[in-house]
Amino acid sequence: MRFLERIVIVGPASQILGVEIAQELGIEALNTEIKKFPDGENYLRINIEDETLITGKEVIIVQSTGPSFNADQNARLMELFMMIDSVKRMGAKKIIVVVPYLAYTRQDKIFRPGESQFSNVVLQMINYIGIDEFYSVDIHTPQVLNDCSCKAINIDSMKLLADYIKLRGASDIVVVAPDKGAIERSSAFANHFGENVPIEVFEKKRDVKTGEIKMKGSLDLKEKDVVIADDIIATGGTMATAIKLAKESGARKVFAVATHALLLGQAKYKILKAGADEIIGTDSIDNEACKVSLAKVIADYLK
Ligand code: R5P
Repeated sequence: MRFLERIVIVGPASQILGVEIAQELGIEALNTEIKKFPDGENYLRINIEDETLITGKEVIIVQSTGPSFNADQNARLMELFMMIDSVKRMGAKKIIVVVPYLAYTRQDKIFRPGESQFSNVVLQMINYIGIDEFYSVDIHTPQVLNDCSCKAINIDSMKLLADYIKLRGASDIVVVAPDKGAIERSSAFANHFGENVPIEVFEKKRDVKTGEIKMKGSLDLKEKDVVIADDIIATGGTMATAIKLAKESGARKVFAVATHALLLGQAKYKILKAGADEIIGTDSIDNEACKVSLAKVIADYLK
């Protein structure tokens, strides 16, 4: 019976999503207990008294690795490693890992001598601990999956985000890519709003030393609802600059959309002040911008 054979471990960074995935699958969920030792090391324990609950089971671990609830990505990664290690020790038959947001994948290029091209290393570490399947969503550098020896899937959230924006009553839509790197994603995104929905691109340059963003572009967006789509909103600098340009180009409504809305520091303020009507993200990051749940699409892959 599936109910007895599979179990979800709900990681501390994905409490709602983890429970919802378990509900979609109709299986039991367990949570964890975490703390920090006085020296700063992370501690994690799966909340069970009887370890045989795990032995011989197919275990689905759900843990995002973005910064949230006062824990940074490094703490989230250590918690993930500990969950995998402990279910392995308890004799799980199969270990399936769901990491809705995979941290460090933006570090995929060398800009300055001496840097580490780290983007694929985190997944290699997860793989090395010993897992059977890996699922993530809109990975910034999907090529990292190629270095994983287990089954590894990158799930696409674009249809879900587009469906949400349609429900918000957007019309005469133009999809704007905030930089050239986002063109492919924006084109695919535009298709979900219908045929011939235009895609426009701004040109972005980020100073590799200071992080300062410069963006160019002058578009005719009069009477248009503009959807600015990126995979990640971190400091909000990219999004806010693109929104400002879109507004200067005549945009009516502006939807600031990202699969992973990390919204660090003053990002919310910057984006709304620039003129966005709404910030829309998924529950890959559990915060106030999460308007779209990934639970069903992830569960469908796990069925
Ligand atoms: C970069 O290539 C990503 O796709 C995002 O554009 C970037 O991570 C956004 O960062 P921030 O919000 O700090 O400008």
